[in-house]
Parts: sequence; C-alpha cells; structure tokens
Amino acid sequence: MFTRFIYDLKYLFIVWIPLILISTLMLWTGPSVALNPPQEDEIEQGARLYAENCAVCHGPEGKGRIGATLAKDWPSIRPDLRVKSVIENGVPGTRMPAWSQQNGGPLSEQEIDALVAFILSWQTGGFIQFYPPPTAIPRPPLTPIPDVQGDPNRGAVLYDQNCALCHGPNGEGRVGATLAKNFPSIRPDLRIRSTIERGIEGSVMPAWAQEFGGPLTQSEINDLVAFLLTWSTPPYPLSITETSTPIYTPIKVLQSQHGVVLVFIFVVIVVFITVFILLRRNTSK
Ligand code: HEC
Ligand code: HEC
Repeated sequence: MFTRFIYDLKYLFIVWIPLILISTLMLWTGPSVALNPPQEDEIEQGARLYAENCAVCHGPEGKGRIGATLAKDWPSIRPDLRVKSVIENGVPGTRMPAWSQQNGGPLSEQEIDALVAFILSWQTGGFIQFYPPPTAIPRPPLTPIPDVQGDPNRGAVLYDQNCALCHGPNGEGRVGATLAKNFPSIRPDLRIRSTIERGIEGSVMPAWAQEFGGPLTQSEINDLVAFLLTWSTPPYPLSITETSTPIYTPIKVLQSQHGVVLVFIFVVIVVFITVFILLRRNTSK
C-alpha cells in the first residue's frame, strides 16, 4: 500500500507535473502566437499593405504607374493629414478608390495610418523600402482552353499580382466586380479582353493595355483572358472548384488555433499511453 503510494508520487513528478506544465505553457503561448501576429513596426506594416494594395497602381517604389507618383515631397503644412484624407476618400472621378472602411473600402484607420507613415518615409532623404508585389498563390496546373489564345497558368500569376486586390483571390469580388462567373456573350473572350484593355469608364477599373496607357502587353492580356475563362462553366468547361479551394499547408494548420489544440490533444494521448505502459509494468512486477 505504502510502496504503491510512493509509485504514485513518482508518477506525480515524472508524469503529471510535467504534463500540467507543458499544457499550461502551450495553451498560454499557443493561442497568443496564433491570434496576435508579431508586432510590426508601423512603417514595416505600411510597406506590406502598400505592396498588397497600392503598388499595382503606384509602382513598387512609389514612382507611379496607373496612379500618381507618391515618392515625393508633399507641399502641405500637415502632409500626413493630406495623404491620409486622400487614402480614406479616394479621388473621385479617377482610378483612385476610397480605402477606409467608412467609405466602403477594406482598410482600418490603423492600417491607413501605417500607410501614411510608410509613404511619408519617402520624402526627401527618407529611406526607400519596398516589398515585392504580392506573390502568386500556388494553384493546380490549368489546361489551356481550346480556341483561346493565352496560357491560363501565366494568367493566374498576372491575376494574383494585378487584379486579386480588387477582384478577390478567387474572383469573388471585393472593390471590383465578381469575375468567377459566366460572361453572357457569344464571344466572352473578346468581351473580357476589351474590358481589360480599356478599363471601365467612370469606375476604378483601370485600362491595362499599353495602347491605353496601362502596364500590360497584348500577350499578358491574352493570358489573363484565358485564366478568367477557367472560371466560367460551359462553353468554357473547366472545373471551378479546382482553382477556388483554399490551400492548407500543414504548417498553416499548425500555426492556427486548431493546430494548437491538435498538438495539445496529441501530447495528452502520448502521456496517457506512457502512464498506462508504466503502470502495467509496475503491476506486473
Ligand atoms: C487602381 C489604381 C490605384 C490604386 C490601387 C491606388 N491608387 Fe492611389 N491614385 C491612383 C490615381 C489614378 C491617382 C491620381 C488621382 C488624380 O488624378 O489626382 C492616385 C492618387 C493617390 C494619392 C494622391 C497623390 C497626390 O499627388 O495627391 C495618394 C496619396 C494615393 N493615391 C495613395 C494610394 C494608396 C496608399 C493606395 C493603396 C492603399 C492607393 N493609392 C491605391 C490610382 C490608384
Ligand atoms: C482598383 C481596382 C481594380 C483592379 C486593380 C482591377 N479591377 Fe477589374 N474591375 C474593377 C471594378 C470596380 C469593376 C466593375 C466596374 C463597373 O462595372 O462599374 C471591374 C470590372 C472588371 C471586369 C468586367 C466584369 C463584368 O462583369 O463585366 C473585368 C473582366 C475585369 N474587371 C478584369 C480585371 C482584370 C483582369 C484585372 C487585372 C489585370 C482587373 N480587373 C483589375 C476594379 C478593378
């Protein structure tokens, strides 16, 4: 009876206390890692937001593309307020959309402040730091569509870099229209091509063809058309689900809150099996 108690006490030290410590530690650090991304410096955050949302029109280094040059001095007593108000409200009648949530845009006030801090860091003598434009998301290879010029796989990359910010990663629509749909037209390819080339007058949809002052070549636009057509059902039959399933990597799952719970359950199971084996060994002595 007494030795039994000693054994139990031993288990208390070698099994139960470490188990409790490990699980508290995991529950304590786990969700906070998953919920609060590492604290970024404001300018650093601004640079990332800029690369994701603005570089497409203003160029990766703020030198201007479809949008105005931003890497410049701002002749104003409070340049921060001026830049902030443009970002919040957009410039009506131009391609510059309103970004604040009050105006139906996607960015919070804190994110806009970070962008302002980043853009103003470009004033004379300021440092230039930029992130590459958004990278393409991995997708399963797409089969080119018969009778349509252009490669949907190259188009997908161009889409992620230029269009996803307004039309959503899967064409579901954001600031821009939904593109994952059928285009009612006898030749949807021609219709889509001309929209991309010329943009849409009176909206923020820019003209992308070089003939119309945009940044893309004819063959790049063909690739985009081929890619957008993979979203329609017949007469351009290609599976929609293939391109639109979100991609879960094991690492992403482990970084999420579910991952923490999974790891926790795994540890508990391992510990219970160990205890069970130890007890069995002990009783069989
Ligand atoms: C679809 C293209 C487009 C996107 C995306 C875009 N802009 Fe613009 N932006 C423009 C255009 C075009 C102008 C010039 C408007 C005009 O004619 O005054 C402009 C003007 C501006 C100006 C004022 C420039 C000046 O000299 O007064 C600021 C500041 C600005 N944009 C910031 C941003 C920020 C920050 C983002 C990302 C959150 C962004 N823009 C995204 C097209 C865009
Ligand atoms: C700054 C935001 C923005 C960007 C970037 C953008 N679009 Fe658009 N796009 C729009 C908006 C807004 C509309 C809807 C305009 C309207 O109908 O008033 C639109 C409409 C379209 C349409 C027509 C949809 C229909 O139902 O007829 C096509 C096609 C399209 N965009 C393709 C593209 C492609 C391809 C790219 C990338 C090369 C792109 N867009 C980039 C904002 C954007």
